[in-house]
Amino acid sequence: MATVTLEQISKAFGATFAVKDFSATIADGEFVTFLGPSGCGKTTCLRMVAGFIDPTRGRVSIGARVVSDPERKIAVPPEERGVGMVFQSYAVWPHMTVFANVAYPLKIKSVSKEEQRQRVGRALELMKMSDLADRFPHQLSGGQQQRVALARALVMNPQVLLLDEPLSNLDAKLREEMRLELKQLQKQTGVTIIFVTHDQMEAMVMADRIVVMNAGIIQQIGAPREIYLKPANRFVGEFIGVANFLSGRRRGDGFALAASPQIVLPFQPPAALTSDALVMMVRPQDIALHPSQGQLAAQVAQKMFVGDATEYFVSVGGETLRVRGAPREDYAVGATVHLTISAGQFFQ
Ligand SMILES: Nc1ncnc2c1ncn2[C@@H]1O[C@H](COP(=O)(O)OP(=O)(O)O)[C@@H](O)[C@H]1O
Ligand SMILES: [Mg+2]
Repeated sequence: MATVTLEQISKAFGATFAVKDFSATIADGEFVTFLGPSGCGKTTCLRMVAGFIDPTRGRVSIGARVVSDPERKIAVPPEERGVGMVFQSYAVWPHMTVFANVAYPLKIKSVSKEEQRQRVGRALELMKMSDLADRFPHQLSGGQQQRVALARALVMNPQVLLLDEPLSNLDAKLREEMRLELKQLQKQTGVTIIFVTHDQMEAMVMADRIVVMNAGIIQQIGAPREIYLKPANRFVGEFIGVANFLSGRRRGDGFALAASPQIVLPFQPPAALTSDALVMMVRPQDIALHPSQGQLAAQVAQKMFVGDATEYFVSVGGETLRVRGAPREDYAVGATVHLTISAGQFFQ
């Protein structure tokens, strides 16, 4: 399989950059997701790897081979890059059986009938579709149609599989199943996978590493745990998981809330943050709720029972915090509760 190297790639549409100075190395056999809100440049980036879009500047390499480099006028066409691509829409041929759909790219390359049978057989087996080979797409569910699209990408034995929100049209349960299957597929085949999604949960459960993007610019690259626990900036902290943000400033050994400066939390912002106004990020699970005694008193403003927890919105000195309570604890709206914050991270 192959490494994918993106060096300072940028794509401008007119005067605006959809992707700017994007650099990342995706290791051989790695599963990397590009994650970010709609319009942040994920698809543009993936299509530059595939060769459907030429970068305005920068260099793309697959394995040792440079496949895009506008400065040197290199632009290897998509079909010569050894990549397979699957899109959000199922994009299977409605008038062809499952077998014919998957065999199609082989047929174009004049692969022998016998080899077609073998390779299609293996691709369908990988996607658990062997017994549906004679069906037509209208006889398949959405999930099955997407498996056909995946099998069709795999039949060419790609070095790199590029997946652009392939699970977004599936219902929640099927999506979860497919996530696990894609991970397994990667292990079985050793193919390098770049998976684009705007769904942070999807990115977290599948990726070896996540590239978080915003407005065409990489915000952070790291393993899911690292990105969740040590976000590089407020955008990443807010985009991944649930977080509270408290505005305030350094005061002695602590952090005084902007809305109520008499409330000083026992956390010291790192000295490297020199700005006067700072923000402290606190995850809900790092706030404990007690009936009495804690760092702070708060009022319950809203509550939602979600089964494994009760989620509370509590007011503290002009701020609202989201907190999780154990399912068997129950505080009424309007009640006074006490909070202890055990961890937080500062941004300026
Ligand atoms: N062909 C195009 N012409 C002009 N603007 C485009 C074109 N393709 C994408 N864009 C713009 O580039 C930005 C990134 O788009 P895209 O890569 O599709 O984002 P994402 O996949 O993250 O939702 C968006 O602002 C989009 O409107
Ligand atoms: Mg997109």
